[in-house]
Amino acid sequence: MTDTTLRWGLLSTARINERLIPAIRATERAELVAVASRDLARAEAYAAEHKIPRAYGSYEALLDDPEVDAVYISLPNSLHAEWTICAAQAGKHVLCEKPLAVSVEQCDQVIAAAESSGRVIAEAVMYLYHPLLQRLREMVKEGAVGQVTLVRGAFSFFLDRLNDVRWRPELAGGSLWDVGSYPVSFIRWVAGEPEEVFGWQVLTSSGVDATFAGLLRYDNGVLGVMDCGFRQQFRVQAEVTGTEGTLTLERPYLMNAQSRIVWQRGLDQEQVITSPEINPYECEVRAFTRAVLEGAPLPVSLESSRANVATLVTLYESARTGQPCRVLVW
Ligand SMILES: NC(=O)c1ccc[n+]([C@@H]2O[C@H](COP(=O)([O-])OP(=O)(O)OC[C@H]3O[C@@H](n4cnc5c(N)ncnc54)[C@H](OP(=O)(O)O)[C@@H]3O)[C@@H](O)[C@H]2O)c1
Repeated sequence: MTDTTLRWGLLSTARINERLIPAIRATERAELVAVASRDLARAEAYAAEHKIPRAYGSYEALLDDPEVDAVYISLPNSLHAEWTICAAQAGKHVLCEKPLAVSVEQCDQVIAAAESSGRVIAEAVMYLYHPLLQRLREMVKEGAVGQVTLVRGAFSFFLDRLNDVRWRPELAGGSLWDVGSYPVSFIRWVAGEPEEVFGWQVLTSSGVDATFAGLLRYDNGVLGVMDCGFRQQFRVQAEVTGTEGTLTLERPYLMNAQSRIVWQRGLDQEQVITSPEINPYECEVRAFTRAVLEGAPLPVSLESSRANVATLVTLYESARTGQPCRVLVW
């Protein structure tokens, strides 16, 4: 790392990189220097198309490059923990796509790798880096909805790519791992860690959930309600309601110019809270860069990512067994 610049490498040529590349380039003190693919020709073509200086034909080769300080991991879900750990052991800081891992044990190994390497590791839950999320949490704490009693979230889209990694169980496909992780993280962002969860899923013939609906129960009387899926049209929802009002985060998760908080009390009182349009991927890359270069705190800790994974795993366990399950692994 130079004194002032974080030099980034991309681990894979995933579609989601299209969001991160402009975000890295828009961030002061960040520079995109390398990309790796399982296939050298693909890496070279990708590097040429995106004007990235260096291309590697394996992920290991990029990790061996001493002039890469941080990597963005956009691999299929089942590979997140393994490559995050490899990257940290190679001395790289890691921004890893959600979910951080697909088991609590893997999360513990990632946390151990962060501690032993001294590198920054963070889960790329981009919307939680957006200022409206901080504002929403402050408003809940200030009593905007009175006592919180119900938190709801949903994320679905119609997945028509038949060969998508999201349909493949061996890569930890499935709608809950993919888009369901957002409403679950939203409910936890507001209400903290649930005691118990219940889930129903509709499986494909390959065995991944195409639709998932879940409930999160809290000892203090709060309920969380979520759903997600690949067999519905695009919709994103997030709402906190309580004894005195409701906060609706419009256009959550994939935040854009339409994202805003609507605060409703009674039948007629409504107030809208906006923020300047801020790209959530830029918020994420800026925060990560500041965390590495200045030691600034991140909004999403590894412990919180671990709790999200624990909640998702327990929802799957409940759907598999048909029983409510306690979330035991805090
Ligand atoms: N935060 C967000 O807004 C957001 C949005 C979409 C996706 N995501 C996350 O980003 C990750 C990637 O999603 P995506 O839709 O961008 O995936 P994708 O386009 O399918 O890309 C995945 C990449 O992983 C590499 N790969 C390594 N082993 C693979 C295997 N066995 N099968 C297939 N690909 C393999 C491939 O790159 P090479 O061939 O170049 O090695 C491939 O391009 C997922 O974890 C997803 O949850 C986040």
